[in-house]
Amino acid sequence: MITTDTNKFQAIISHAKEYGFVFPSSEIYDGLSAVYDYGPWGSELKKNIREQWWNSMTRMHDNIVGIDAAIFMHPTTWKASGHVDNFSDPMIDNKDSKKRYRVDHLIEAQADKLAKEGKTETAESLLASMEKLLSDNDYAGIKSLIEKEGIACPVSGTSNWTDVRQFNLMFSTQLGSVSDDASEIYLRPETAQGIFVNFLNVQKTARMKVPFGIAQVGKAFRNEIVARQFIFRMREFEQMEMQFFIRPGTQKEWYEYWKKERMDWHIGLGFDAAHYRFHDHAKLAHYADAAVDIEYAFPIGWKEVEGIHSRTDFDLRNHQQFSGKKLQYFDTELNQNYIPYVIETSIGLDRMFLLTLSHAYTEEKWTKEDGKEDSRVVLKIPPKLAPIKLAILPLVKKDGLPEIARELMRSCREDFYCFYEEKDTIGKRYRRMDALGTPYCVTIDHQSKEDGTVTIRHRDSMTQERVALSSVREMVSRSTR
Ligand code: GAP
Repeated sequence: MITTDTNKFQAIISHAKEYGFVFPSSEIYDGLSAVYDYGPWGSELKKNIREQWWNSMTRMHDNIVGIDAAIFMHPTTWKASGHVDNFSDPMIDNKDSKKRYRVDHLIEAQADKLAKEGKTETAESLLASMEKLLSDNDYAGIKSLIEKEGIACPVSGTSNWTDVRQFNLMFSTQLGSVSDDASEIYLRPETAQGIFVNFLNVQKTARMKVPFGIAQVGKAFRNEIVARQFIFRMREFEQMEMQFFIRPGTQKEWYEYWKKERMDWHIGLGFDAAHYRFHDHAKLAHYADAAVDIEYAFPIGWKEVEGIHSRTDFDLRNHQQFSGKKLQYFDTELNQNYIPYVIETSIGLDRMFLLTLSHAYTEEKWTKEDGKEDSRVVLKIPPKLAPIKLAILPLVKKDGLPEIARELMRSCREDFYCFYEEKDTIGKRYRRMDALGTPYCVTIDHQSKEDGTVTIRHRDSMTQERVALSSVREMVSRSTR
């Protein structure tokens, strides 16, 4: 059974900070709400996830190419995409604290509370009522539900609520000097539009034929009102999106195809299938005719990590209309012009990072042979994602052992990320590498000088074996890619 575990979630947040994965942004000024920085091992882990995604899209599919579009786009983009008019969330204000909340977050928090009290069925029925009211745009009904549940503001503790209203989530800024001719532009709330407006540029220059895809990784910005739960919901985050352009009428089969492909990608990385499920959207976004979330059982419950959306020709058609430029494709097989339909796969890189930590974070305790208790915190990160693949540890700082270790480091570092450490006892060094999720540690000792062998230690089992120094590079390379 999957249960929520708030303690584990808090432990992950502390661990991420203590071991250089994630820091609160501008921490010396007490941080900035829902904005985070990635430290040395966090940025390495994030890069590895990004690479896995990028390669799975572009290298592994003949018909998918990548782009890297700008964050700023012409303001009409967001009019055409529907974000100016529709990209808003229903919010409610507490009249006493003056705090504003997304109604779904308030109700979800209440459902979490009920679930923790063992009232799982009541929690599920509350969420079902919310989804129904939201899909009907019944904001008066939502307010009644909040009142009926007795949901109070976490700050004031009162239930003195305003009516439910819609607030746009886009950040805006000024282009050029702040003068009369300055125009308001937005920080993109999704990377997808950079793909849509470049659809013809890419199709022509890369000589793509429908069906084909365009992939992109980049920052997106949303003024999340209730931004909480660490890097799960941020104001500045990174998306990995792919738009797959198809013939109109084929969207159902491609939608099923990408649902399967994406789930297979997650499981193929080494994550547990039992922690994943699909969740169909009850309320569709303004652009979609079908949409599903891939959810993961985080320590804070089942949550969305990725969305697969059948976006019809909504975006290209609107860009064609607003720009006055034809965004059509000539299908030589059909001898026909059309605006392609689109299946989108959209995953948050930061959320995938949190998923990785949630899967990996493990506290272990055991009794040693001498009867004493021992324990460790280990990050069981899938080896291909681990920030450091191999730690190279000379047993002592003398007798020529560091020289052998440095030589091994030189021969391996072009192939994968290695880390050299000669301080502290070997036991402490192993524990530190466990906490960083390093799958292999190699210890160079006096025997290494005599027979050219080393001890290799496996992170998850803590077993050690003696292997030829000359075999280390190939072995680690093979098992971490
Ligand atoms: N282009 C479609 C789109 O943006 P979305 O469901 O709004 O769809 C896609 O977002 C993914 O982006 C989500 O599944 C999630 O992983 C990530 N995401 C969205 N908002 C986020 C936020 N505030 N913080 C972190 N990740 C977020």
